[in-house]
Amino acid sequence: MKFVETYSLHDIAPGKSRPVRIGTTDIVLFNVDGTIHATENSCLHGGAALSGGRLCGKVVACPAHGWRYDVTTGALLVAPEKGLRTFPVRIDDGKVFVQVEA
Ligand code: FES
Repeated sequence: MKFVETYSLHDIAPGKSRPVRIGTTDIVLFNVDGTIHATENSCLHGGAALSGGRLCGKVVACPAHGWRYDVTTGALLVAPEKGLRTFPVRIDDGKVFVQVEA
């Protein structure tokens, strides 16, 4: 599987996020203290885009009804056995690459 180039690293400031679509997969990239994490960009509750949520440390709150996720693992905080898909991230020459299964 290939890593796909997305943004420049400096386009995603610490504490911020950016949505990206790769193929048919909607992903959100989060910058947690300088490390980029990638999860699916769709809340498990009602499908709201998590890229519109507030990131506090490694936790994002869904903008619709507030479900909270650990973006480093994808885990739903109140039920960690459930969670968002996560995707491998690689940084190369200041660019953010994400690996998505076909
Ligand atoms: S859609 Fe995310 S909490 Fe309801």
